[in-house]
Amino acid sequence: MSAVPNIRRMKIDDLDRIMGLEAELFTDPWSRQSYLFEICTNRFSLPVVMELNKAIIGYAVVWRLYGEFHLATFGIAPDHQGNGWGRYLLEKLLGMADVEKRAILEVRRSNHKAKSLYESFGFREIALRMKYYKNGEDALVMEKRFDQQT
Ligand SMILES: CC(C)(COP(=O)(O)OP(=O)(O)OC[C@H]1O[C@@H](n2cnc3c(N)ncnc32)[C@H](O)[C@@H]1OP(=O)(O)O)[C@@H](O)C(=O)NCCC(=O)NCCS
Repeated sequence: MSAVPNIRRMKIDDLDRIMGLEAELFTDPWSRQSYLFEICTNRFSLPVVMELNKAIIGYAVVWRLYGEFHLATFGIAPDHQGNGWGRYLLEKLLGMADVEKRAILEVRRSNHKAKSLYESFGFREIALRMKYYKNGEDALVMEKRFDQQT
């Protein structure tokens, strides 16, 4: 990790790249319409991209509402995975939490990679949403408390 990435708010112009990454990274990709809503309408939303040498290599959407820092989606480009960028982006995102008492997210039960990353930041399973995903897979709800030592 020699170059320092730039993290900035997502723009409409980023959506072609984001749509490409969504299709590569997720079984149930978010639609362009969903991202437009996050960028233009949802006042609780913080959609961000992470650029390395001016190319988008990661992105995330965070909802900040009612004292909760909700990581709604989060991904790193396949050819940049395993290099510490997921950890880097998550650390920066969590560093943006100020008034929030907790961070929360849902992750597929089978997504061991993401789960292990979240656990290393102090996220713990607090609930299970049965058959949450379209293919019938369960979601683990994970929480990190900012008011407790991990
Ligand atoms: C999950 C994801 C964001 C991780 O990003 P990444 O850049 O590959 O992760 P990093 O290189 O920063 O590694 C961070 C941690 O993830 C875990 N991890 C990474 N690769 C792993 C692997 N092959 N097996 C198990 N754990 C792994 C480890 O805990 C690792 O920490 P460590 O290197 O200190 O052991 C990325 O794999 C991704 O975009 N996946 C597809 C989309 C997705 O699942 N998003 C999360 C939805 S909830």
